Amino acid sequence: MSTTEQRVAVVTGGARGIGAATAVRLAAEGRAVAVIDLDEAACKDTVEKITAAGGKAIAVGCDVSDEAQVEAAVARIADELGAPTILVNNAGVLRDNLLFKMSVADWDTVMNVHLRGAFLMSKACQKHMVDAGFGRIVNLSSSSALGNRGQVNYSAAKAGLQGFTKTLAKELGKFGVTANSVAPGFIATEMTKATAERVGMGFEDFKAAAATQIPVARVGEPDDIANAIAFFTGEAAGFVSGQVLYVAGGPLD
Ligand SMILES: NC(=O)c1ccc[n+]([C@@H]2O[C@H](COP(=O)([O-])OP(=O)(O)OC[C@H]3O[C@@H](n4cnc5c(N)ncnc54)[C@H](O)[C@@H]3O)[C@@H](O)[C@H]2O)c1
Repeated sequence: MSTTEQRVAVVTGGARGIGAATAVRLAAEGRAVAVIDLDEAACKDTVEKITAAGGKAIAVGCDVSDEAQVEAAVARIADELGAPTILVNNAGVLRDNLLFKMSVADWDTVMNVHLRGAFLMSKACQKHMVDAGFGRIVNLSSSSALGNRGQVNYSAAKAGLQGFTKTLAKELGKFGVTANSVAPGFIATEMTKATAERVGMGFEDFKAAAATQIPVARVGEPDDIANAIAFFTGEAAGFVSGQVLYVAGGPLD
């Protein structure tokens, strides 16, 4: 890569929340960004925010759990922006319920989006990274990986992503590719807003209650996670690989 060439970053689930903040942040770091989400039109706001600030971005509609869609999306990104050598596996969904009430469909959906999605995206992008002799993969885990009532599916997927990350780091390190995991605590997004609604609380009360359990006495914002991801995807982080960074406003029990 010449010094003037832009690296291409792919952020899944980039239409809103942590993914949108990450896409904007990576663009500010000088990356060209492919913003992937289920609905291409939903990525418009993120793309416009990037281009309005003078950055380069495209919107890509893709269900990350669908092999054919992932292959087509990554081929399109390589064609329109260049080889994707930075990948943030951020797309996620919740299907919370206690084990005895959880449907098989809700188990499968969570596994498919988080684990199958990260697998398919990483597999499709790694060949571009290996060819370039450079790559950065960041997988979004969660504090729920340590166990969380009502999230047997989600906690299993998020713990699974930590093992996935460490194995990618071991397999791909010799090609200049690092893989790390960022595990957020409570971050104020549509995802946590939906949880507040599910348990019958207003979002402000829900956030205030959560903040009482967090050492820095506030809930996280999407930019708190984007900052950590920017570090792992940076040029200078080439000797940091296979790590899990909890970004939760304090240590977790
Ligand atoms: N918000 C938190 O407190 C928190 C905490 C820990 C981990 N996380 C993780 O961080 C990531 C982002 O969370 P968020 O809070 O911004 O969530 P969010 O619900 O606001 O955004 C998730 C995005 O992923 C997209 N998405 C879902 N399924 C997809 C699929 N199959 N293909 C492509 N895109 C898909 C959604 O459309 C949405 O735009 C998720 O992996 C989540 O599990 C969030």
